[in-house]
Amino acid sequence: MKFFIDTANLDQIREARDLGVLDGVTTNPSLMAKEGISGEANILKHYVDICNIVDGDVSAEVISTDFDGIVAEGKRLHELHENIVVKVPMIKDGVKALKYFSENDIRTNCTLIFSPGQALLAAKAGASYVSPFIGRIDDISSDGMALIESIRTIYDNFGFETEILAASVRHPMHIVECAELGADVATCPLSAILALLKHPLTDIGLEKFLADHAKSN
Ligand code: E4P
Repeated sequence: MKFFIDTANLDQIREARDLGVLDGVTTNPSLMAKEGISGEANILKHYVDICNIVDGDVSAEVISTDFDGIVAEGKRLHELHENIVVKVPMIKDGVKALKYFSENDIRTNCTLIFSPGQALLAAKAGASYVSPFIGRIDDISSDGMALIESIRTIYDNFGFETEILAASVRHPMHIVECAELGADVATCPLSAILALLKHPLTDIGLEKFLADHAKSN
C-alpha cells in the first residue's frame, strides 16, 4: 500500500519524506488555506514547491465547478509538473471532465467520494484515483471502512484500474484497516503515520535491552 501525506505544510512533507516511506501528497483548498496560501500565482508555486520535495504523485484540486472551467484549470495544474494529479470533485461536470482528462492522458483524483455508486461512476469515467472520505463518514456515525470494502469488491469484479485512495484518515487504525481491505493508498496526516511507530512494549523492551547492555559493559 502506498502512503501519501495529506497536508500542504512543507515542513511536514519533508519530515514524512525523510522517514523514507512517503509515496505522494494530497492537498485540498482547505489545507492550502490553512497554510495561508492564497492567490493563483502563490497556489501554483506552492504545488511546484511540493513536487520539488517529493518524488511521487501530488494531488492539486480544481476550484471550478463547470466543465470548461475544470478542464482549463486542470490543464494549468497538469502543466506545472509531471507528478501533478488533477483533483476533481464528484459532481456531474466533474465526471465529464474526468472522462476528458483520461482521454487526454491527464491523471486525476476524484474527490468527495461517499458512496460505492460514486466510486463506480468515477472509475467508468477513467479516474486514476478515487478518494473515499472515511473519517467524515465515521464522523456521522456511519462506517467508512465498509465503503472501502465495497469499492474494492466492485473494482475487483470488473478489473477497474482506478486506485482506491483512502482519504480523511484520522488515526493509525484507519491505515491498518485500509491495508487489510486492500486500499491502494492511504493519505494521512503526519500524526497518523508517526503513530504507527508506537507500541508500549517496544519502548519497554528497548529500555531493558539498553539497560542490560549498560550493566554488562
Ligand atoms: C484528501 O484528499 C482529502 O481532501 C482529505 O483527506 C480530507 O480530510 P478531512 O476530512 O480531514 O478534511
